[in-house]
Amino acid sequence: MGEEKGTLTPSRRAMVNPRRAEPEAMTYPMSAEPGGTHGGDPVIIAVTGTPGVGKTTVSKLLARELGHEYVNIKDYALEKGLGEMRGDELELDVDELARSFERDFAGRDVVVDGHLSHFLNADIVVVLRAHPGLIGERLKERGYPREKVGENVEAELVDVILVEAIEENDRVIEVDTTGKDPDEVVGEILELIERGITKRVGIVDWSGVYDEVLPYLRP
Ligand SMILES: Nc1ncnc2c1ncn2[C@@H]1O[C@H](COP(=O)(O)OP(=O)(O)OP(=O)(O)O)[C@@H](O)[C@H]1O
Ligand SMILES: [Mg+2]
Repeated sequence: MGEEKGTLTPSRRAMVNPRRAEPEAMTYPMSAEPGGTHGGDPVIIAVTGTPGVGKTTVSKLLARELGHEYVNIKDYALEKGLGEMRGDELELDVDELARSFERDFAGRDVVVDGHLSHFLNADIVVVLRAHPGLIGERLKERGYPREKVGENVEAELVDVILVEAIEENDRVIEVDTTGKDPDEVVGEILELIERGITKRVGIVDWSGVYDEVLPYLRP
């Protein structure tokens, strides 16, 4: 896909934050609201997850299926002149990003792609998950340095993005992409949205594959 070569770093908090999800978040709670995110109102859907998990692939398909605009957060930030380059990383103030996004996109139907999209004021946050070994393989193939591969494998392993998303938004849907193709993942997201499901978290637990992905964590 070529885009998002550098990394986005949120300046409000550290990127790698190896905490596990809250225990109550792991009990697979599901809640629905009448009408869900439908009902004719504009809907902002944030698609987030560890680098390489499939956000861009899934977001573009999802936007097409829904007839929503597609927005890549990094492209948006660069276009708006937000953030500061530090080496090859764009460090963003996530509150500033959220304010700017709100000004530009409130009242529109948008799918927002990026691992900082859960910091935006979205109607629903989709957290994509994948076996950490898959993340490792994909990032290795992209030529990421070993250390960067390891950081991201670890982040997926310990649910960093999920925990951040839950802290930011009550409406979080987690979708495991492992062993599925992008169409299946989009189908699953659409079905959850149609059923009015606004919370579904705690569906994966990568602690069982820790040994398997250990080689990525010890460069
Ligand atoms: N079920 C799936 N969902 C999404 N992508 C998948 C799936 N299965 C395989 N892939 C592949 O995984 C890769 C994911 O890359 P993609 O650029 O979409 O990830 P990303 O999360 O946007 O990465 P980045 O954080 O660097 O922007 C693609 O090559 C895609 O074809
Ligand atoms: Mg991407």
